[in-house]
Amino acid sequence: MADLLVLGIETTCDETSAAVVARSSSGASDIRSNVIRSQIAIHSPYGGVVPEIAARAHVEILDHVIAEAMRQANLSFSELSGIAAAAGPGLIGGVIVGLTTAKAIALAARKPLVAVNHLEAHALTARLTDGVAFPYLLLLVSGGHTQLLAVEDVGRYTRLGTTLDDAVGEAFDKVAKMLSLPYPGGPQVEAQAAQGHADRFAFPRPMLGRREPDFSLSGLKTAVRLEAEKLAPLTDEDVADLCASFQAAVVEVIVDRVKAGARAFRDRLGRGPTALVVAGGVAANGAIRAALARQAAELNTRFALPAPDLCTDNGAMIAWAGAERLSRGLHDSLEVSPRARWPL
Ligand code: KG4
Ligand code: ZN
Repeated sequence: MADLLVLGIETTCDETSAAVVARSSSGASDIRSNVIRSQIAIHSPYGGVVPEIAARAHVEILDHVIAEAMRQANLSFSELSGIAAAAGPGLIGGVIVGLTTAKAIALAARKPLVAVNHLEAHALTARLTDGVAFPYLLLLVSGGHTQLLAVEDVGRYTRLGTTLDDAVGEAFDKVAKMLSLPYPGGPQVEAQAAQGHADRFAFPRPMLGRREPDFSLSGLKTAVRLEAEKLAPLTDEDVADLCASFQAAVVEVIVDRVKAGARAFRDRLGRGPTALVVAGGVAANGAIRAALARQAAELNTRFALPAPDLCTDNGAMIAWAGAERLSRGLHDSLEVSPRARWPL
């Protein structure tokens, strides 16, 4: 089989992205282009993503982003094997923009359409970047999702555990907001934590030691809020120490939950994972990356962590998930609907 060449479109949140990825029949990959336009500057005055503004911004620039991705890949639509778009889950206005555009291109160029689940794309990224084989243990940690999954094959994902309340990225963002740090909060909290003392506040470590690999972060978030209220007005040192103590608690919880996830993986599949894979925006956090690398070594398994720009939302992961599905003969009709909610 010749290489599959797939255009991928991502518009589920605040990144407008288009990419072209090649997949050979042996599963080898090549990113031909990956154009990402972040809307952070547009949303930051509001302290978070405003869905209506996001959708309008996607409408304004998506055509240009796609044209640029095709130009960099030096391809015309007629040379593609298929068009993939994230069809959810996400902010529905943006999802409609991306999926409708993909349908139009697929129809005009007479190419198959692949409606990709955004979470599936995060889940499969380690195969694009590191050629990881099935089955592997995936920690998906983003602004909207926190899950431990057994990734057994394309389309075969078992959720081992999830968060009972906030996602990890959401907790970072909320802590940033209560400390008056700018949006998006995750990188800000990490930068502050690097300046602070992690042992100043003994914040709770929710779910530590539990057998089920689930997460809970709202109690920890509340503990940070109460401490911040007690200290107000906060000095720079207070902010840095609160961030460092919060991040240390998150790191300890994540490591413990991954341990529980590895146990659940073995119970379910009767074998260990080929790798521990981390995906989602929070995987950009250096302290979390380092702790998980140590944990993978302890579990005697490979550690796969895509580069930061492939951990956060991007078109290449959508194109790759599309190529993985096409390689198995899977594609969708032009009638397929966008979905705000779409569990894996
Ligand atoms: O995957 P992503 O780009 O978007 C989705 O949620 O799908 O993840 C964004 C999340 C935000 O909550 C952001 O604060 C968090 O990832 N994040 C971080 C860091 N960089 C991004 N959290 C902690 N430390 C970071 N360095
Ligand atoms: Zn995402």
